[in-house]
Amino acid sequence: MNLVLTCPFWLESIAKKEIELLWLPILNSQDKQITTSYTENNIAKLNLWSRVWNKVYIELARKDNIDSFDKLFELIQSIDWKYFIVEENPIIVNATSISSQLESVPGIQKIWKKAIVDKLSKWFLREDDNCTSIYVEIVLIKNTCQILIDTSWEALHKRWYRQQSVEAPIRENLAAGLVLLSSWRFKENFYDFFCWSWTIVIEAWLIAKNIAPGINRNFAFEKFKFLNKDILNEEKEIARSKIMDKTYNIKWSDIDENAINIAKSNALKAWVWDIISFEQKDFRNYINTNLVWTMVSNPPYGIRLKDEDLEKLYSDLASLFNKNKELKWWIITNYQFGELLKNHYKKRKLYNWQELCYFYTKSNNF
Ligand SMILES: C[S@@+](CC[C@H](N)C(=O)[O-])C[C@H]1O[C@@H](n2cnc3c(N)ncnc32)[C@H](O)[C@@H]1O
Repeated sequence: MNLVLTCPFWLESIAKKEIELLWLPILNSQDKQITTSYTENNIAKLNLWSRVWNKVYIELARKDNIDSFDKLFELIQSIDWKYFIVEENPIIVNATSISSQLESVPGIQKIWKKAIVDKLSKWFLREDDNCTSIYVEIVLIKNTCQILIDTSWEALHKRWYRQQSVEAPIRENLAAGLVLLSSWRFKENFYDFFCWSWTIVIEAWLIAKNIAPGINRNFAFEKFKFLNKDILNEEKEIARSKIMDKTYNIKWSDIDENAINIAKSNALKAWVWDIISFEQKDFRNYINTNLVWTMVSNPPYGIRLKDEDLEKLYSDLASLFNKNKELKWWIITNYQFGELLKNHYKKRKLYNWQELCYFYTKSNNF
C-alpha cells in the first residue's frame, strides 16, 4: 500500500521537492500524481504540509491491463474492505477513465457495487454524502487501474484563512507554487503589486515562516477507524515546533481600495495583518523607483479589462521591468507581453484554474 498525491499539471517538480523536504521517498511520478510511502503518520504529515498538492490518497490497489469488467471485478474483490470501512462510514464512489478500454463511468460504478456487495452488507452501500462518508476513487488511465481512498476531504488548496468569496482569486496552491518557483529565499523584500485578496503574499509568508498550510483545518482521515487517533496531534505538535520566529519584509499594493476589505479579513485569519504592509497604489508609481526586491504577481488579463487597457497595462509593466534592472520579477498571465521586454526572459506553462497561462521571469532567474 502506498500514498498518492495529486497536484496541478506542471507543478509536479515543486510537489516532488516538497515531499523530499519531508524526508519521504518518491516511488513513482506521472502527470498530476506522485506516489510516496505509506505510514499512518505520513498521512497526517502530508495533509498538514501540502502547499501545492490537491489531495492525499491511500492507494489500496494498482494494477496494469485492467481492460475488462471481469478484471476490474477481481481487483475490487481482492481488497479487504472490512478493514477500511466500518458501518458508520458509508462509501461514496467516483470513477474516472482516461484513454482506457473501460470507458463507461456508470459501468465501472455498477461493477464496483457488484464486487463488494458480498464483502459488505447493503448497509455500507448507503450513498449519503455527509461528513462521515468515505470517498473512494477508481481511476483508470491507459488501462492501469488505481483504487484510492481520499484522506483529505476538501481539496487541500482550501486554506483556513480564505473564507471571503472573491472574484477570480488565484488558487492557494498555485500561489504557493509561484513563490516556490521564484528565487525568493526570504532575505530580500517581497512585493505583490496586484494583490487583490493577497493570496500570493499570504502564501509567501506561510512559506517563509515554515507554517504548515493545513495546521488549522480538518481532514477525512480523522474519522478512519483503522488509523491511530493520535497521528494528527503528533504531527501538528511537530509542525508547531518548526514555525520560524522571524519577521520578513513583505509588501503588497493594489489599485482597488476594495482589496483592502477583502484581504484584511483573509490576513487577519492568516495571522499576518500586523506583519505585512498594504498600500492602495497604481503599480505605475514604481516605474521610476529603483526597486531591488523580489516581485511575484498575477496582473489582470482579459477578464476585467478591455483590450486597449490591457495593452497599456502591459506596456507600462514592461517599462517597470525594463527600468528596474535590479528587480527580480515573476508574472503569471495569459497576455503575451514578451516582445515588450528589453531583456531576455523565460516563461513556463501553468494552469490558473482551467486557463493556460505563462509564468514569466528574467532569463537569469530560473
Ligand atoms: C487577477 S487580480 C489578482 C488576484 C490575486 N492574485 C488574488 O489571488 O486575489 C488583478 C488585480 O490587479 C489590480 N490592478 C489592476 N490594475 C492595476 C494597476 N494599474 N495597479 C495596481 N493594481 C492593479 C486589480 O484591482 C486586481 O485586484
